Amino acid sequence: MATTRQLNVNGRTYNVDAESDASLLMVLRDHLDLTGSKYGCGEGQCGACTVLIDGKSRRSCITHVGDVAQKKITTIEGLAQGDRLHPVQQAFLDEGAMQCAYCTSGMIMTAVSLLNTRRDSSAAEIARAMEGNICRCGTQPRIVSAIQRAAKAMNESRS
Ligand code: FES
Ligand code: FES
Repeated sequence: MATTRQLNVNGRTYNVDAESDASLLMVLRDHLDLTGSKYGCGEGQCGACTVLIDGKSRRSCITHVGDVAQKKITTIEGLAQGDRLHPVQQAFLDEGAMQCAYCTSGMIMTAVSLLNTRRDSSAAEIARAMEGNICRCGTQPRIVSAIQRAAKAMNESRS
């Protein structure tokens, strides 16, 4: 039975009527109209639906909404600060790290999660960390370059 539960998404509190085992992805897209997170495989295999839960990347298609009621959820729509893009978003634009862009929001969210913990990874390490996110258009080399560019920008802004 659907019950009303509170979700904290991108710093706002939403009341949502949903079953506890409803997928977070569907709630984000269908109830909250946050359609930046994409439905790809629906089975946790492609990464298109990736969001941050308490700062760590999670597949929203296999995350039950009942398990995230007390958590801080961030979607691609919550990354920019006003008109200023997150450094990872800016780097993806600067490197042209997208073609059809279906994978892009998931790639960016995984990259943000990675850079939240580590900003000195080699290209090979970044490629490995991004392996769970699938790009059918073959933009992985540019994605890795974008993540390196973002890491540099984030390190410089800290110094
Ligand atoms: S749609 Fe969630 S991992 Fe593919
Ligand atoms: S840019 Fe098309 S799937 Fe990645």
